[in-house]
Amino acid sequence: MSVDVSDLADVLVVGGARPLRGRLRVPGDKSISHRALIFGALAQGSSAITNLGTGADVRATARVLAQLGATIGSEGGAVIVDGAGIEGFTEPGAVLDCENSGTTMRVLAGVLAGRMFLSVLSGDASLRARPMGRVVEPLRAMGADIDGREGATLAPLVIRGSTLRGLRHELPVASAQVKTALVLAGLQADGETEVVSPAPSRDHTERMLAALGAPVVVDGLTVRVARGAPRSFELDVPGDPSSAAFFAVAAAITPGSDIVIESMSCSPTRVGFVEVLRRMGADVELTVSGEVCGEPVGELRVRSSALVGTMIAGDEVPGVIDEIPALAVAAAFADGVTEVRDAAELVVKESNRIGTLHTELGKLGVGAEARGDGLVVRGGRANAGDFSSHGDHRIAMAMAIAANALEADSTVHGWSAVASSYPEFARDLDQLTGSGAS
Ligand code: S3P
Repeated sequence: MSVDVSDLADVLVVGGARPLRGRLRVPGDKSISHRALIFGALAQGSSAITNLGTGADVRATARVLAQLGATIGSEGGAVIVDGAGIEGFTEPGAVLDCENSGTTMRVLAGVLAGRMFLSVLSGDASLRARPMGRVVEPLRAMGADIDGREGATLAPLVIRGSTLRGLRHELPVASAQVKTALVLAGLQADGETEVVSPAPSRDHTERMLAALGAPVVVDGLTVRVARGAPRSFELDVPGDPSSAAFFAVAAAITPGSDIVIESMSCSPTRVGFVEVLRRMGADVELTVSGEVCGEPVGELRVRSSALVGTMIAGDEVPGVIDEIPALAVAAAFADGVTEVRDAAELVVKESNRIGTLHTELGKLGVGAEARGDGLVVRGGRANAGDFSSHGDHRIAMAMAIAANALEADSTVHGWSAVASSYPEFARDLDQLTGSGAS
């Protein structure tokens, strides 16, 4: 049975225990794509971006930047951002709709805090329920004037631009979005801004801004930033490891698989899932072959093999937080117990991923237990089922790869949620399993 997507029914039907084989370049990394658009708008002049992420989240950032005065177009397959520098940002005439994208809202809050006009950031129901106090509070300490619902802990956020001053801030959670917001506020602030993370988190902002000549310096877990701006650039966005992780797990758990994911972002802060899979007994090989804009790039080969349970905890967690849905599926097909600890952040993602994974793994028929800060998965015999995305792209893709590894057909309801990060996922799964026309 091949993949069958019915737009009207918003359902994916998948099964057949189809091995994955061949080479694939996944769409451009979502985190790098957001940053490329924003940094292009902050720079003076024209930036050309190829392989920009294709998801709705990245499009939301582009639309919001256009509302703020940036000119974004396309030319011969590249997205062109004509930036007028940070002083070129203009007051938007309407609410800025970040849709489902936490990165758009939190990161742009840092830019808008220092712009001398009024702006309102809002989003869909899921985003309006996600915590914003973590970004509002330190921005206020820098002099920002931000309000919002429930004591400015929830969007919509109303931002009145003000003069910012640098500060030293120790983040209570390792959040790359908050770190980035403070760095972008720091580029506009008087004096130095210092952001200290409790554990490593994705570091694209630091790598890219430093490569683009902005005054950003990294010292261990501390990022220091002074007033300045990036220069315009050309960038071929490497593939998204968080998207690749679904195919990596799909190949690991489906006998007969052998795939290579090409031109993938290999920042050590993003490929933690490769190490987790290796610990689980997966046959994985990561080869870094170059660098673009400060970002290591390489390829990932995965062949199917028997898996065993593992423990994911402590400082490893921020580096695999988006890959927990994929890794939970690996755990469901592994022998023994997998435990995820210190991952309470899962609760405030696009869905409450502790709750939604617990529910969906339960439908797979494997033993799963939800804990306050993670999950316990007792791998074993999984069965086909009737799954739900809960409106969360990564839950949708996780259940699709579980379903692909099983003989009988399963359904994934709410499939359109994949549009947030990877609208072409079903097509690419089809290509790797050889069952599509492509
Ligand atoms: C992101 C940071 C992470 C990640 C999200 C993208 C980014 O969120 O989960 O998908 O691009 O900076 P947190 O900053 O909340 O950890």
